This record gives sequence, structure tokens and C-alpha cells, in this order.
Amino acid sequence: MKSLLRLSAIAMALFASVTLAQETADGVAPEQTTALGGVTAGILAASQAAKEAGQPVEAENWMVVAAHPLAVKAGGRVLAEGGTAADAMVAVQAVLGLVEPQSSGLGGGAFLVWYDGDTGQLTTLDGREKAPLAATPRLLQDDTGEPLKFFDAVVGGLSVGVPGTPLLMEDAHLRWGKAKWAGLFSEAIYLAEDGFSVSPRMAASVARDADRLAVHSETAAYFLPDGAPLQAGHVLRNPAYSDTLRNLAANGASPFYRGDVSDAIVRAVRGADNPGLLTPIDMALYRVEERPAVCAPYRGNQVCGMGPPSSGALAVGQILGQLEAYDLAALGPGSAEAWRLIGDSSRLAFADRGRYVADSDFVPVPVKGMVDAAYMGERGKLLAGDDALPEVSAGTPEFEHALLWADDEDRATPSTSHITIADSYGNVLSMTTTIENGFGSRVMVRGFLLNNELTDFSFRSHRDGVPVANAVAPGKRPRSSMAPTIVLRDGKPVLAVGSPGGSRIIPYVAKTIIAHLDWGMDVQQAVSLPHLANRFGTYDLEEDTLQGALEDMGYEVKVRGLNSGLHAISFGDTMLGGADPRREGLALGE
Ligand code: GLY
Repeated sequence: MKSLLRLSAIAMALFASVTLAQETADGVAPEQTTALGGVTAGILAASQAAKEAGQPVEAENWMVVAAHPLAVKAGGRVLAEGGTAADAMVAVQAVLGLVEPQSSGLGGGAFLVWYDGDTGQLTTLDGREKAPLAATPRLLQDDTGEPLKFFDAVVGGLSVGVPGTPLLMEDAHLRWGKAKWAGLFSEAIYLAEDGFSVSPRMAASVARDADRLAVHSETAAYFLPDGAPLQAGHVLRNPAYSDTLRNLAANGASPFYRGDVSDAIVRAVRGADNPGLLTPIDMALYRVEERPAVCAPYRGNQVCGMGPPSSGALAVGQILGQLEAYDLAALGPGSAEAWRLIGDSSRLAFADRGRYVADSDFVPVPVKGMVDAAYMGERGKLLAGDDALPEVSAGTPEFEHALLWADDEDRATPSTSHITIADSYGNVLSMTTTIENGFGSRVMVRGFLLNNELTDFSFRSHRDGVPVANAVAPGKRPRSSMAPTIVLRDGKPVLAVGSPGGSRIIPYVAKTIIAHLDWGMDVQQAVSLPHLANRFGTYDLEEDTLQGALEDMGYEVKVRGLNSGLHAISFGDTMLGGADPRREGLALGE
């Protein structure tokens, strides 16, 4: 009660300054909202300190966890003012598109999982990009039918799908928002006009990608001013993005699909080197789809997330469901045997994913069969030995359509960003957002980058004459690995989590759930726990501690950087937030 009173006092103190901002969508400096600025500065400092100490952030009323301090601050302001998680997501996404442009933005797509505090219902929204109607299964192949080299397909207009993020933001706000739409962009507009300090992570990404960023003139001018990569600490302004946000604030998402922004996107895609096929009709036909949540049972919980076209919830659910019969809690996180079970369960899940998962609007996907407890139990029996499974292949989940699919290979690469938010109304949002590769297609328009999501399709349409489920088709959405997740127990959230990381998103998220549920780690410990990820046989380790033991079991092992961006909130007597120490993000709560 005391904290509720405190919250309402804060909300009243802020009301005057923030309402004005909401109505005008003007950029508002954090200093101009003195009361909120003070509160936010205090809790921001506490969040930074918690992250440095490896502690979770505790909150009673609301919490936001995202990949950049400026983004969580924007979300925190909205939540402190009484906004919902959907309102805060709009503010967070608008800032992320500016300060972490390599990972997500208005030119990309996203999946959102929503737990409704009033009804206890889960809703999932699919804002995934779509292939143009002119696309064929040969889109990502050369004249002889051979797959293009990855970056030959990525850079330019060819890989750009119709962006879903602007409409997803609007759709979520219409469904669940309380704050005025226009005001949600004020912080991002302010930062775009006044400038923000380029982070070390962004600067390193620009330096690594300088050759590709140089290809498109608008992109080069922004990221390589005077021909040199942006440096950390450089104060960067993006007036074109500010104009785009003002347009979005004033007119909603419609200019992105039937208007000046849409026209500019189509022109940029068709006029780029390596041109793409998007037309105004593709843009106008785009819709965000509400789809049934996919849930899998695990130790009395329901692990729920985004179904096809994402493989995220299916694969995370299978990894866990196949492990149900094994006592991971007794083995503990230091045990090679635990990681043998987890790693091989992941390989089994990836085998099913490769064969069966694609856009279910185009191909039948055995969703129910794949996360059926009996099927997962049978597949789990394959894990009963002592050593690495010598071979792994897809199973045969119950499937009402007897279609034969060839296995797909995997190319997904890590960029992407994850946002987890809980508001003071009991709503919880878990959203993974992406432009696919770092800096997407490298084509920039109106101050934001366009995605290269079409390279998440299989480059091959067939293998040995057998079709691949995730082949390109007109209007289809490419398969994703994004796994925005909400874990429920007795219908109530216990954990919300997600991550970037290409197809390693799946093992990162599964590991975090196991660390929290089986090993009793708090969210910060679970997120920080070193990664061991196995998708296709090779065991990727972040640290070499178990290298010898896993090699003795028959695994090929590679010690390497594993760059997740896990952002999680756990729910108990209070909320605890954890932000991945591998990135710049923070958990912020009150
Ligand atoms: N582009 C990353 C994913 O959707 O999995």
C-alpha cells in the first residue's frame, strides 16, 4: 500500500508536464520533467549499481528491462506515469531504433506475447516481415539455382520484407494502451534532435561493418560521417528519424503502409544496388496477425510463447518437455551430465524445427504434436544414455497432414533485441524485435534501417527433390527463432524472458528457464550464467570449464563468445529484473 501511495504521488507530480508532452509529441528533455527526472535518475543509478554487482533489481509496481539505458528510461517514465506495458513498449522501441539501430527498429519486425492482468489471458501478436508478392522460391538463388552467398543476399533491397514493427506498435497500443499515442515518442524525438552519445557497443558494430555500411549513400552518411566509422561518445543526431517519429506520432502507422514513408521504403528497396521486389501493394496489404500462444508443460508450469512463423516457443518447449523425466535440479549447473541432457535435447528440438517449422499460413505445421507431452516424453527417452547422441534426426509428431519435408539448414545471425515489461496493472509484455542481421539490409530510409528478414527463409527450395517447408513464397513470413516467453504457473506469470542471438536464442532462453526453475537461481544469476549451447552437434561454450568432460562424452566443442541479450523479470512477492551483462541493457523498476 505504501508503495502504491508513493506511486500515485509520483504520477500526480508528473501529470502536468507529461500530459503536455503527450499532446504535442514534442521532444521533452528528461530535465524538463523535474519530478520524474529525479525519480528516474535515482532508480537508474540503483539499476546500474545492481547490474555492476550482479544483483537483480527489485520492484513492486512496474519493471522494464531492455537493451539500452536510454530506452529503459523512456519506458520507465511511461510506466511511472501510469502507462501500461504496451505504452511503455512503444516508447522503448522508438528509443531503441535510435540508440541501438543495428538491432531493431521501424524497418523491422517483432513478436509480442502479452499477459493480461485483468483477464489472465495470453495473446501473441505476429509483426513478422512478409515477402513481396513477386517473390518466388528462387529469390535467394543465382541463375543456376545455387544459393546466393549470405551477404550477397543480405546487402541491398533483395532481402527486405514488408516491415511489421510500426503496425505492431500501433496495434498493441490500440488493444492495451492507456497513454496518448503521440506522447509516447517524446523522449525518442528529443534524443534524435538533441543527440545521444554513441555507445561502445554501437561504435564497435559500426567499425566491424564499415565496408557494408558504405554501400548505401544515406547509410554511409549517417554511420560513416566523413568516411570514418562513428566513435563511442560521439553525440549523434538523427533529424530524419525525428521527422519520421513526428509523422508516426501524428498519423499513426498508416504512412508506413499507404503513404509517404511506404513510398520512400519501396523506392529505396527497388532503387538499391541488388534491388528488391517490394511494391506499394505489398506494403498496403500488410497485417499484424494475432495467433494462438504455443504452450508446453514443464515441471507444473506452462512455458508459453510465439508459434509459427517463429520456431521459438516450439523449440524452447520441446527442449524443456524432453527433459521433464530427468532430475536436472539434482545434477546442478556444474554437471556435464546436465549439459549433455540439455544439449542433446536442444539438438532433437532443432531437428524437428529444421524439418517442420515455417509460416503456418502457408504450410501445415504440427504445432500440437510437437509439444504434446507424450511425444516429447518419447523423444526424451533418446537422452537416456551416457554419451553425446551420435546422430540426431527429426521425429514424427502427430500430424494431420502427411507431408514430407526436407531438412532446412540454419543461417540466422545474431542482432535483434528483447524487451520485457511489467506494469502496475498486472500486465506483462515479452517482445523480441529485429531487423535480422546487424544493420539489416544496410539500406536506410527516413532515418531508420530496413530489415534483411527474407534471408531467414531457406535459400534452398528443395533438397534432393524434396521441398523445404521454409522456402520463399509470395506473401509468406520467414521462419524465426525469436522466443519471447512468459512462463505461467496456475495461470499466473512466474517468469518473462527473451533474447537476441539468431537461432541460439532458443538455447539461451531454455537455459535461463532451467536455471531459474530447476536450479533456483534468481533472474540475474540465470541470465548471467555462462552459456553452453548446442543446436546441430557442436557444443558452443562461453567458458571452457566443462570442455574436457563434454569432449569425453563425444562432443565437438568450440569455446567462443556467445552474445545473448537476455532480459527477464520473475514474479513472486515482488518482481525481480535481470539484464544480460553481455550487453548494455538495464532492468529498471519501482
Ligand atoms: N532474424 C532473427 C530471427 O527472427 O530469428
